[in-house]
Parts: sequence; structure tokens; C-alpha cells
Amino acid sequence: MIKMRNLHQCTECRAEATRWAGRCSGCGAWNTLVEVAPPPAPGVLAEAVKAVALAEVAALGAPSRPTGLAELDRVLGGGLVRGSATLVGGEPGIGKSTLLLQALAAMARQGARCLLVSAEESVQQVRLRAERLAALPPGLWVLSSTDLPGITRAVDELGPDICVVDSIQAVHDPELGSGAGSVTQVRECANALVQLARRRQLSLLVVGHVTKDGALAGPRVLEHVVDTVLSFEGDRHSSLRLLRALKHRFGPTGELGLFEMGEAGLTGVADPSGLLLGDRRSGVPGSIVVPVLEGHRPLLVEVQALVSRVGPAPAPSRRSAQGLDGGRLALVLAVLEQRVGLSMSGADVYASAVGGVRVAEPAADLAVALALASASTGEVLPAHLVAAGEVGLAGELRSVSGLPRRLAEAARLGFRVAVVPESSPDGPPGLVLFRAATLLEALQGAGMSRRALAA
Ligand code: TYD
Ligand code: MG
Repeated sequence: MIKMRNLHQCTECRAEATRWAGRCSGCGAWNTLVEVAPPPAPGVLAEAVKAVALAEVAALGAPSRPTGLAELDRVLGGGLVRGSATLVGGEPGIGKSTLLLQALAAMARQGARCLLVSAEESVQQVRLRAERLAALPPGLWVLSSTDLPGITRAVDELGPDICVVDSIQAVHDPELGSGAGSVTQVRECANALVQLARRRQLSLLVVGHVTKDGALAGPRVLEHVVDTVLSFEGDRHSSLRLLRALKHRFGPTGELGLFEMGEAGLTGVADPSGLLLGDRRSGVPGSIVVPVLEGHRPLLVEVQALVSRVGPAPAPSRRSAQGLDGGRLALVLAVLEQRVGLSMSGADVYASAVGGVRVAEPAADLAVALALASASTGEVLPAHLVAAGEVGLAGELRSVSGLPRRLAEAARLGFRVAVVPESSPDGPPGLVLFRAATLLEALQGAGMSRRALAA
């Protein structure tokens, strides 16, 4: 019997080969050969080309494998898709290696064959971390290597269902000449690994470090090579970590996953608002809670402000926004001065979102304004108050998206009054709405006296 060889084609130069090889004989590129379907027999093609009614096409959900970490699965829209590539980006030290080792261990426990390629740590270092995380199930393999051909061989030999490469910046292909971490190396190594994942139908996860300004050679050029881009974020001084999908070929991108980093790794956070408000002190001026929306998920975040007037300032006054948008802080300060008559010029102004969540949406303007006014006047805002609304340049309050979801979360955590824009729909039971058309009305509704505001 004659055994038919499957046809392979180079994804770069389209050259054909009768068998798979690591390198294309046409253009010399590595790992670009993919198996292609044999040409159809004559006559078959004519029949196959036929339009079908779109409504009658069966929905094809990409089958995915849950990782076993609920917060990760939530962001992935169920789990990892076979033959797909996911980039996990984040600043060094944020917890990417920890997250992926925990995910691998969880999948290995379900019987998946898992390989961790550590290009930054020795197998002993990985073992140490795994002990701390109690992540030593059978079926979890580890390889410490930076060498792309070696990694490819190991994957071919082991045949894992899931493979993590940590990090892509440390992987190096000696064929390419340029140094590890260069744009060419990162892009080409990622390309080769993605092709490997497609060919072997394994789920690939690659770690990519980004710097604070996202400028590093890496994730930017990687984004279109992979199917999914996850971003792992958080303030390193707080334990809360946020995972979100910036790009996702197999599902929605709005979901947010929340973890808490502890002594034994990451645990999913079921009640993030409760965690974020855990340390809140009442009775202090300059504090209010804003219900923000992260994707589809409402979160209650405390906004704090401090206004410091220490004599006639010789130096230019300071404006510090932590976890908040500096531009929006400046806008709110200007509106307070021009439309409300509350000036903080000459004073140092500090504003922050507490707990490591970055609050950049305009819906937080009103809370920032209230916190600033409270800090400036020394009048304490009621502890059971939340505020949501965008502040316009004319001093008007503008509506915000998803208000019912935000207010439901506020009611769930026991808040009783919400200051909201005039056009807002009714709130959930138990939450009284104070509707305000302008920032001045909102300040008065929040209990700030005319006398204090005019002072
Ligand atoms: P790591 O996963 O190494 O970060 P990345 O891979 O993104 O660079 O985690 C780094 C930090 O997390 C490190 O400062 C120690 C801390 N950590 C914990 O707090 N608890 C733990 O169980 C582990 C494993 C790490
Ligand atoms: Mg790491």
C-alpha cells in the first residue's frame, strides 16, 4: 500500500513540501511549515462552493478547557482553546509567573499534560515556588531553557496539552543572530511558538514583561501574533491584582478577574468591593466612595483627597493624582474654582484611588470633586454616601453608563444615598438617589454647607 504523505506549506513564502521540516527549504524561515489539506478531487470544488443562509449556520463555540482558576476562566470566557496562543503581559514582579504556575498546576490536577518552560529561572527555583504554592501535582513538567530549538524539541517530545513559556523576552533563537530580547528575537520566537501551538494543537501561554510606559520590545509587537492578550495589573504595594483581556479572539474582552496576592500565591476575590473598602475610616474629610465599572464588573472604590495649605507657597503648588487621571483632576479643580467658587490655587492637592485600582473613567469626576471640596473645607461627607457622574466644563453633571449596575453594588454593600446626575433612572431598593443638575447642587446635596463652600 502506498502511504500518502500530507502536504505542508510555508506560511511565509507559500512554498510546498511533502513532509514537515523545521525549516522551509524555500525561504529558510523556521517553523513556518503547516499541514494543508490535499487539493480536492476534480468536480468536488464546484459542489462545495455554495452560499448558505447565515441564520441556518450552526453556532460554533470554540471548545475550551477550564483552567480551574475561576477568575482566569472568567476573563478567558470559559478557559483555554486548543491550538491557541495567549500572551500574559504585566510589569515585572506583579505575579505573572505565580498566576501561570498555579493555572498549570490546577490543569495538571485535572489530568492535563502541562509543561512550564522557564527561561528566567532554574528548575530548582521553580520547584521552590511550586512548594510555596502547593503546586506539585503529577503531570506538571518543567524545563529551564532559553534556547528556541531546544524548547521546540522538548515540546515535540513531551507533547503537552498546555505549555507556558516564561518569559518570551528571555527566549533566544541562535539562528537569528540578534541578541535575546531584541524586537526581532521576540517577534520571531513568538511566531515560532505560536506555529508550534497550532501544529500540536496545544494551548500556549507566553509571558511578556512590560515596563511602566509599555515601551519594552515585546508585547506591542506580540499583540497581533497571538489570539488573546491578557494584562495583569495592580499596585505592587497592595495585594489586589486585576486581570483583563485586551484582545480575545474567542470571547468578550470586558471581563475582569480579581486576585489577592498572599503568602501562598493568588486567590480569587469574590467580593472585591468588600476588600477594597476593608480599611476605610469614617469621619475623615476628603473621603467618598465611587462605584466604578471595570468591564462589566462594578467595584466600589474609595477616593481620597488632601488639600495642604502651608503658608504662602514659594514653589509651584503640587498636584498629585494616584490611581486617578491627572488630566481629569486638573479639570475638576478648574470647574470647582470657576463654577463653584472653591479655589485651591496655591495649595498642594493630593488625590488618590485607594487599593490599587486605576480609576480613569469620567464617571469618577463627581467623587473626585466631592472629595476635594470636603478636604478643602474640612466638612466630612456622610459615610453612607456614594457619588457617580461626569463633570462638564460648564459645571453641569453628565450621565454615566451602567448606572443601575453601579448602584446595585452600592446598595449591596449598605450604602444608603447616591448623588447622581439629574437624568438618572431610579436606583435599587434601599438606596435613595439625590439627583443634581450641577456640581454645586451635588455638593449641597452631599451635605456641604453654603457657608463652607463660600469660605
Ligand atoms: P512573580 O510571579 O515572580 O512575578 P512576575 O512573574 O510577574 O515577575 O511574583 C512576584 C512577587 O509576588 C514577589 O515579589 C513575591 C510575591 N509573591 C507572594 O507574595 N506570594 C507568593 O506566594 C508568591 C509565589 C510570590
Ligand atoms: Mg516571572
